[in-house]
Amino acid sequence: MDISGERWREHRKFAVLQLRELGVGKPLMESKILIETEELLKKLKTAEYLGEDLCLQSELDVAVGSVINQFLFGYRFDESKLHEFVKIKTLVNNFMEEVGKPLGVLAFTCHGIPPFIVKRMVSGLMLIHQEIDEYLGHHRRILTMSDKNALVYFNAFANETQRLANILPMNLPHALTRDVVLKGYHLKKGTGIIHQIANVMTDETIFKDPYRFDPNRFIDENGKLKKIEELCPFSMGKRQCVGEGLARMEIFLLAANLFNYFEFVPGSEGLPSLFKDFSLVSHVIPFKCQVRSRDHSGSK
Ligand code: HEM
Repeated sequence: MDISGERWREHRKFAVLQLRELGVGKPLMESKILIETEELLKKLKTAEYLGEDLCLQSELDVAVGSVINQFLFGYRFDESKLHEFVKIKTLVNNFMEEVGKPLGVLAFTCHGIPPFIVKRMVSGLMLIHQEIDEYLGHHRRILTMSDKNALVYFNAFANETQRLANILPMNLPHALTRDVVLKGYHLKKGTGIIHQIANVMTDETIFKDPYRFDPNRFIDENGKLKKIEELCPFSMGKRQCVGEGLARMEIFLLAANLFNYFEFVPGSEGLPSLFKDFSLVSHVIPFKCQVRSRDHSGSK
């Protein structure tokens, strides 16, 4: 990430090829994510049975970490390997915090989540439950990628969440590959720049009332999912995220199935904080919740 020119080109080509070779972008990818989805659902079932608070964020971290570890090293972070994951996560978090410190001063877009957004998200979640229930009828089962296109509202909700979550409020630094004139300013080749995808995703000429949480902006008049080019949480151009395909599939399979099987209520410590934390990427402050199965007669 932190390199450019020929060295970056070589690294990027290597990374893309290796990920493909290991199965990313192939049907194998879905089956690996589904393994983690089922394991996560089991953990949630157990937490519900025991009446325990659950840190969903930590459980999702393990699931996502296990997917990539399955590809790279052929095993998942089950109970016996969990200590390995915790060690890696601590190292990565410390690194992100150090690297993010100077950027934190500049991260003006990294504020809390306004309560009016939360209210709209909560009512949106009810619509997700409704959409999944209408789609599956009486036969609750694991949702797979073949179900994705049918769940228009879920996809619109996920898009709107990624647009406003703005997890990379300061994008990664780049350098100009040629001289550029921007709004009358002459910028020389080699000048360091940080392009702001956050600004694109809150551009009011594209997204009317940009700070309003409104999944319907991604649904057209025929009820189909609308593609809006300016939705770019994975950035754009040659340095666009290498893991986009994998991340998109994880978002659908994990989140859609969590809402398929469960509803989430506050844990014993109450509601989560609406503030975000920042260390290179912005993230929620850890919170605990309780889960409730949505369907006791359903089979998994
Ligand atoms: C929701 C999840 C993710 C989001 C929102 C995200 C977003 C981004 C963004 C905004 C960039 C910066 C692009 C730029 O410099 O303009 C980036 C770069 C990158 N991402 Fe992701 N990413 C995600 C998941 C992943 C995953 C799962 C992987 C690996 C499998 C990954 C690998 C990379 C790499 C290697 C780069 C650097 C690309 C380059 O400099 O050529 N990302 N990502």
